[in-house]
Amino acid sequence: EEEAGDSQPLKGRRLLISLGGTREAIDPVRFIGNRSSGKQGIAIVTEAALLGAVGVVVSTVDFARVDGFETIRVESALEMHQEILSHLPESDGLIMCAAVADYRVKNPASIKIKKGASAPQIELIENPDILADSSSYIKSNDLKCVTVGFAAETNDALLNGKKKLSKKGIDLIVVNDVTEDGSGFGSDSNAVWILGSEGSSERIDLAKKSKIAKSLLLSLVKILDLKFP
Ligand code: CTP
Ligand code: CA
Repeated sequence: EEEAGDSQPLKGRRLLISLGGTREAIDPVRFIGNRSSGKQGIAIVTEAALLGAVGVVVSTVDFARVDGFETIRVESALEMHQEILSHLPESDGLIMCAAVADYRVKNPASIKIKKGASAPQIELIENPDILADSSSYIKSNDLKCVTVGFAAETNDALLNGKKKLSKKGIDLIVVNDVTEDGSGFGSDSNAVWILGSEGSSERIDLAKKSKIAKSLLLSLVKILDLKFP
């Protein structure tokens, strides 16, 4: 048998992972959603368990149970915000893989909206930034938790990724140019850069989402072992 320290560098670590796209209710039967499949996030949970981690997944989609991980199902950004913030204190790492809606419907109707004389006007208001709030919460409460974000960009991917990394005050960001071949939504593969707040930059050419998941988790291990050995 291999030594646990080699094959399971996340043994003893608790991760908090969000995945899927949030759904923002318009009325009881309709929502504003996005194209996130949750596949990259599910690959991260699967690889994290193989590397020895346990923890909590906050998800908007159903997926097969992964040993060592508890799943909390949510729909909206507000629900996700509450679950993520409440599980930060016991987590060694937060990976925000979810596609969180930037806006939600200000006043969702409590009964189904009927077709009428004119089209309804839907007023939107901004959602909280779960990752930025988590990063401030971690800093102000001196929590030992490494933070990872994702950025799907259509233009100036590296520059936009770097900006997000510093604006949100996080440790790592996985930047993805969604216009690159094979890395669209719902795909089983992706091509990314993994950027670190200390200036590190790793390019991963088109690869299975499981491979990207493992590279990301190994980058996370490096930071964890350095910051919180
Ligand atoms: N994120 C979040 N809460 C939000 C919006 C985004 O936690 N309300 C997280 C995502 O899960 C992702 C990272 O922030 O890990 C970047 O998301 P992205 O949508 O690319 O960034 P935004 O700051 O929303 O910028 P924009 O959509 O304008 O590019
Ligand atoms: Ca956004």
